[in-house]
Amino acid sequence: MDKGNNRSRASYRTAGVPVSSLLTFFTHLLFIAIATLLLVWLLHFRDGLSFTSTNKVKLFNLHPFFMIIGFVLISGEAIMAFTTIPATRRRRKYFHMFLHFIGLGSSIVGLFAIFKFRHDTGNSDLLTLHSWIGISTVSLYALLYFISFLVFFFPGAQNWRRARLAPWHVLYGITIFFMGIVSTETGLVDIFMDLGLQKGQEALIVNFTGLLVLLFGISIGLVVLFPVSYY
Ligand code: HEM
Repeated sequence: MDKGNNRSRASYRTAGVPVSSLLTFFTHLLFIAIATLLLVWLLHFRDGLSFTSTNKVKLFNLHPFFMIIGFVLISGEAIMAFTTIPATRRRRKYFHMFLHFIGLGSSIVGLFAIFKFRHDTGNSDLLTLHSWIGISTVSLYALLYFISFLVFFFPGAQNWRRARLAPWHVLYGITIFFMGIVSTETGLVDIFMDLGLQKGQEALIVNFTGLLVLLFGISIGLVVLFPVSYY
């Protein structure tokens, strides 16, 4: 497992399988489960997805769709890319950057959908705690992407500067990711209350989506903490 790299990295193992591999496998399963639950909720229980329909519920639905699948899940995969992609460090870096690009693009589209929805339905903006945490999360995410692009991708940056900034990049990145998890949880609570859900299948789907998103966040945190196995 450690072949092909000069640096030797420790790897915790259970029954011969590195813990980081088990964790990333589990996290991919969570990705699929969350995406499935969300799609069942939005397509079966709600009215579906559309930017242009006169049914504004479809416009609203694009918000959780892009925020959870596009932002939280894809940026989680981007964070794991250094562990999950069996390729050179350079390729993993490109993949990491590409997935974050999709995450950032999705978060912007998701915000556009909710602002448009609120304007079209005559509501004021940024009144709730959810909206405050949410807008801060996406703003910081965009800032981190821009700075990281300049430091780690732009050819001009010196290696010593990259090495010095790398731990801060990880800390700042995981903090924003967890802010995304908090935004999701508060958003799900908001919609649960708005829809007046109490018992029943839809309430269970919304709550289980929230629980699995929390688990996804914890798993990503553990993947970052555990030593890498693809070395
Ligand atoms: C990373 C995830 C998320 C972020 C960054 C985020 C961000 C935001 C922002 C900035 C607003 C304010 C829009 C405005 O005031 O015009 C908003 C509104 C809203 N979001 Fe989210 N959101 C996220 C996930 C979710 C999820 C998963 C749901 C669940 C369906 C949701 C439900 C809502 C609702 C109901 C509103 C309108 C009421 C309010 O402003 O709180 N959000 N969101």
